[in-house]
Amino acid sequence: MPVYLDNAATSWPKPPGVIPAMQDYLENCGGNPGRAGHGKALASARMTYEARDALTTLFNASSPDRVVFTKNATEAINLLLFGFLNPAEHVIVSSMEHNAVMRPLRELESRGVRLSVIPCDACGRLDPGLVKRAICPDTRLILILHASNVTGALLPIAEVAAIAREAEVRFAVDAAQTAGVCPIDMQAIGIDFLAFTGHKSLGGPQGTGGLAIGADVNLRPLIFGGTGSASESEIQPDFLPDKLESGTLNAVGIAGLGAALTDLMDFGVPNVLAHEQKLMGLFRDGLREIPEVEVYGPVNPRETVGVLSLNIGDLPCEEVGVDLERDFGILTRTGLHCAPAAHRTIGTFGRGTVRFSVSRFTTEADIQAALAAVSQLARSRR
Ligand SMILES: Cc1ncc(COP(=O)(O)O)c(C=O)c1O
Repeated sequence: MPVYLDNAATSWPKPPGVIPAMQDYLENCGGNPGRAGHGKALASARMTYEARDALTTLFNASSPDRVVFTKNATEAINLLLFGFLNPAEHVIVSSMEHNAVMRPLRELESRGVRLSVIPCDACGRLDPGLVKRAICPDTRLILILHASNVTGALLPIAEVAAIAREAEVRFAVDAAQTAGVCPIDMQAIGIDFLAFTGHKSLGGPQGTGGLAIGADVNLRPLIFGGTGSASESEIQPDFLPDKLESGTLNAVGIAGLGAALTDLMDFGVPNVLAHEQKLMGLFRDGLREIPEVEVYGPVNPRETVGVLSLNIGDLPCEEVGVDLERDFGILTRTGLHCAPAAHRTIGTFGRGTVRFSVSRFTTEADIQAALAAVSQLARSRR
């Protein structure tokens, strides 16, 4: 069995209920949600509603109708940015953002949107005071990721939300690395838009994700088409979630996501964070004993989720990744992790890093195996 430490890319294994739920959906249900009045379509609609409802509870979102399904966090972020921003408006992001944020924003910049990128420190931490100073009369949106997919560093979303609220600027969070790891209360924190992905720590299959939208904000659709509702009209409906969900949903994926959410909520999100931080503490303590290893990100595991980047001496990270899999059966991700801005921030843009990322199914034995492997690779360079 491989030691899977690439959960920041996509989680594996999935919770035990996910595969049976997807199989059961395909074998016994299979209708198109919202597209007919027969039993299969109604059962499918009920199942998708229950998943929306579970997500609403998980994030304390404003209502299930305002949780819009997408195929991943990237689509959710595009839906938000293209549906909300207009030319000449100003948006603020951190220097740790993933290309899921930076690429749509660079495109929007070419169409007249103005962008400020707030520098984080070399560990990937954000000073909220710098965000406050960047706000100007045209600022319409502040968007930051909740935790870095490169260093695992947590960003201060509550402090930035308070700054946004005071300035009457909308606040969005890219929770790709924290949904299912950190408790997130949209209403208590003051998050207007929460983009999440279903296939990482929520435990669902690939092809699931979504955008949770606050009660008093509106978006233009990114995609127009059939919704199963208001079929007499050729004009896009203006009610949610239909307005933003044209075309047939990934119902089989949502069935898997729903089962994953049930399992996650039974386990308890705070327990996921505690488990990941404990493993990161163990990993960091062990790595400190290997002089050739440079570890990036905050030293205190309480400032991170279960993601850690390192390099071993001057070994190319790609070579380390190949050796880890071939010689030790340890699966990691190497390179720039779709986040060039983050690597520029922590000083690894030229070479990238080897990233280890855990889930709630990762064990202490997995971490010990990773430590032994890194130690052996480092020793072989002496
Ligand atoms: C911080 C962050 N944002 C966005 C994404 C994009 O997620 P997805 O691939 O599910 O669209 C990722 C994926 O790794 C991520 O780590």
